[in-house]
Amino acid sequence: MKTGILFFLSFIFFGALTSGAQELKKIIGDAETQTSYLFERIGRSKALWISDARNKKKPEVVSPRSVTPDGKLIMVASKDWTSGFFAGELWYLYELTGKDQWKANAEAFTAKIEHEKVNAGTHDMGFKIYCSFGNGYRLTKNGDYREVIIQSAKTLAKRFNPQTGCIRSWDHSRDKWDNPVIIDNMMNLELLFEASKLTNDPTYSKIAVSHANTTMKNHYRPDYSSWHIVDYDSITGKVLKKTTHQGFNNESAWSRGQAWGLYGFTMCYRETKDKKYLEQAEKIAGFILNHPNLPKDLIPYWDFNAPDIPNVPRDASAGAITASALYELSLYSGQGKHYLEIADQITKNLTMGYRSPVGQNEGFILIHSTGSKPSESEVDVPLNYADYYYLEALLRQKNLHEKKSLF
Ligand code: GLY
Repeated sequence: MKTGILFFLSFIFFGALTSGAQELKKIIGDAETQTSYLFERIGRSKALWISDARNKKKPEVVSPRSVTPDGKLIMVASKDWTSGFFAGELWYLYELTGKDQWKANAEAFTAKIEHEKVNAGTHDMGFKIYCSFGNGYRLTKNGDYREVIIQSAKTLAKRFNPQTGCIRSWDHSRDKWDNPVIIDNMMNLELLFEASKLTNDPTYSKIAVSHANTTMKNHYRPDYSSWHIVDYDSITGKVLKKTTHQGFNNESAWSRGQAWGLYGFTMCYRETKDKKYLEQAEKIAGFILNHPNLPKDLIPYWDFNAPDIPNVPRDASAGAITASALYELSLYSGQGKHYLEIADQITKNLTMGYRSPVGQNEGFILIHSTGSKPSESEVDVPLNYADYYYLEALLRQKNLHEKKSLF
């Protein structure tokens, strides 16, 4: 009798596992079909490519980024902060499927961004280089990719100001800020940690730790929500003001900023094993997940304090980043089971409610993301970074449920 029950339960359990694996296979298959459609759109829409209008000599456009309000594909040059996400998606499709076709495409799109390794005019080096070359190196151990990662970290390190203890974010709008640091910048630290591991030179990880500690001290409110921008005096290092650019107002919690912080501090814990980063990530997760304005489907509105909630746009990119971060946090935290369940739920909800039908939306995978609501730019549209973190979340989900390591 007992054996019979055991057999029955195993049947149910393995049946559920198999159907879960089949569902995931179908979702990944759809993502492949949709990305193939995106390639078709890239090939056909050269005339519509949008590059930097201020730049007289038009740079080569290297990556799809989004769609215009009238539905045309937006392509960007390598200097755009989002230029590395598409190459990263192609690496994830290769990792998820093992197909050489995706590897060849990933190599081709990664190569187009190499020039950025010497561009010291931006803090977005991690987004550009780590999502593309970083994933490429992780999967292939190509020595040329390794050199690009190291050079990029050297270039990024030039933006570190020992007085502020941070990497400077923006150079534009000097009339508004002296030495602005945005919460998004936490995402660039992974590149620095990697460069230190590759070179055995702690210079880069020391910069990353200093940046993380200073951000933890100055960017967070008592409720563990984050300001978007902290402006420092570049000479004395003192905080001048705390403001926003993409959030509703200076005291609001811009959704993607909360997600960047969650992801960034979780990653800092992975790299340092310093418990204070783990605690910070747990507190940020608490702010996001317990917020009364977090919708039932767990995909945030563009700002947690946006007026007119619930009649405001969502930001699926913030949902995807949060899901991916929670998968990683589930490995380290005492609340791991809870985080894993929530990450699964967010990923499922993105899949069920935020995916583009195959063959639409110029080939992007997710819809309903918001780039910058205050400037009415890229509101309720597909965005390449939403797709990147969604694929990363799917990959993390697959590996965790198959009891494989994430890193
Ligand atoms: N780093 C820019 C953004 O999150 O929109």
